[in-house]
Amino acid sequence: MKNSRIAAEGLVLLGCGKMGSAMLAGWLARGLPASSVWVIDPHPSDWLQGQGVHLNTTLPVKPAIVLVAVKPQMMADALPTLKMMGNGTTLFVSVAAGITISYFEQTLGAQTPIVRAMPNTPAAISQGITAIVANAAAGPKALDEAEALLSAVGDVVRLDAEAQIDAVTGVSGSGPAYVFHMIETMAAAGVAQGLPADLSMQLAKATVAGAGALALQSDETPSQLRINVTSPNGTTQAALEVLMDEVVGFPALLKRAVKAATDRSRELAGG
Ligand SMILES: NC(=O)c1ccc[n+]([C@@H]2O[C@H](COP(=O)([O-])OP(=O)(O)OC[C@H]3O[C@@H](n4cnc5c(N)ncnc54)[C@H](OP(=O)(O)O)[C@@H]3O)[C@@H](O)[C@H]2O)c1
Repeated sequence: MKNSRIAAEGLVLLGCGKMGSAMLAGWLARGLPASSVWVIDPHPSDWLQGQGVHLNTTLPVKPAIVLVAVKPQMMADALPTLKMMGNGTTLFVSVAAGITISYFEQTLGAQTPIVRAMPNTPAAISQGITAIVANAAAGPKALDEAEALLSAVGDVVRLDAEAQIDAVTGVSGSGPAYVFHMIETMAAAGVAQGLPADLSMQLAKATVAGAGALALQSDETPSQLRINVTSPNGTTQAALEVLMDEVVGFPALLKRAVKAATDRSRELAGG
């Protein structure tokens, strides 16, 4: 990132809360000079004030990239302030949930290169996954730039169509919360079987983290990894008969949960 167009022409970060800070930390760690970054945020954190970036000052006229990381409900106030950067060479990358590419085109101009992204909270420890999709004005080079920028906080995948972003939100965007809830309920279930609460929580956290890492690193599919640890009539099989029940187990439950999040994402984008 040290020698990129971003370092030369500048990057503007609009909104620097949880997601913006995670990304900024990743960029700075990868060698983007703080002097190439301009941040607009009404209440900058102590951490942000100590980073040496340009903070709430006059912006470059044509920055390479504007990264939009304000809450969706603040968008109507925040985005029009950057209208003069639209319809030019500045690439707008937005991580705001539910704000469509067409909203950006309407506010900034139809010729504005725009990439819409859906990250998730493990971005805070550089283990996020972000899905991206671009408008027609953003060519392949813009997608490469957005991917390079967002890969500072984890993996990046490209979508074929913007419509897929609602389902992505249902799986990976909202997904960390499902896993946190699984940890909570697994720990509570251990307590119900007689374990001390602290110990049960430690077991649940490490099990989810370890199984997740194994699923990522292994050459075998998650299904095969499951089969590998399930001996006939053993303990794992006893639990899986409950969890894999087609009516009341994970298959039906997760289908409903992911659908609910996907539907809500569509509603938010539409309204
Ligand atoms: N967190 C996630 O897991 C996640 C996942 C996917 C997508 N996203 C998206 O990421 C975006 C940011 O989420 P977040 O969790 O980082 O929210 P956040 O912590 O509330 O950060 C938003 C920041 O924008 C600032 N802001 C408010 N109005 C502004 C304005 N007019 N101009 C410039 N900055 C302004 C806020 O300042 P004040 O706090 O002082 O108002 C805050 O620091 C959202 O659009 C969200 O949909 C988040």
